[in-house]
Amino acid sequence: MPVLDPFTFEYLSHSEEQTQRLGARLGALLPAHAVIALIGTLGAGKTQFARGIGTGWGAQQPLRSPSFTLVQEHHRDRDNRTLYHIDLFRIEHNDGMQTFGLQEILEDGQSVSIIEWADRAPQMIPDDAIVVKFELHSESKRHMTFSTRSAATWQILLAFRKSAFGV
Ligand SMILES: Nc1ncnc2c1ncn2[C@@H]1O[C@H](COP(=O)(O)OP(=O)(O)OP(=O)(O)O)[C@@H](O)[C@H]1O
Ligand SMILES: [Mg+2]
Repeated sequence: MPVLDPFTFEYLSHSEEQTQRLGARLGALLPAHAVIALIGTLGAGKTQFARGIGTGWGAQQPLRSPSFTLVQEHHRDRDNRTLYHIDLFRIEHNDGMQTFGLQEILEDGQSVSIIEWADRAPQMIPDDAIVVKFELHSESKRHMTFSTRSAATWQILLAFRKSAFGV
């Protein structure tokens, strides 16, 4: 058995801006339907990264912390597709997810979904999701782990790695 999960790579972000720029590189490479699951404690950098994804994807409005609404909908001019920015921090139980229709959102094959606090609903995260885990390393540094369980999504992550880091 390999020591490291083959569909994983890591990075140490040195600043909020760097985390946003990484998100933008990923956002620019996303296919029509993609799920990005963000995991990490309070202040770990999930929203900063999501904001970058929104920029790279082409959202008309900047993504903001959606903590008071479970889901925020964004659009882009190019093809009027939708990006859902979801935050499960306040979700109490599965009923809450049914109320706002998380499953329907994730099944919409034409939209991108970014889910903060995705570990609150692990059963909802599809196998082909891009999972990004954030750990606080120091005041301005965040350790980020990118992974997926899907070989197809891994190709997207490899393209992202090449775009962001040149390798
Ligand atoms: N390398 C870094 N990457 C991202 N954010 C950083 C970094 N260094 C410092 N920060 C700071 O950490 C905070 C991250 O906030 P952010 O809202 O992105 O966290 P979050 O994971 O979404 O938290 P929450 O669960 O409360 O929504 C910001 O204040 C940001 O300035
Ligand atoms: Mg957040």
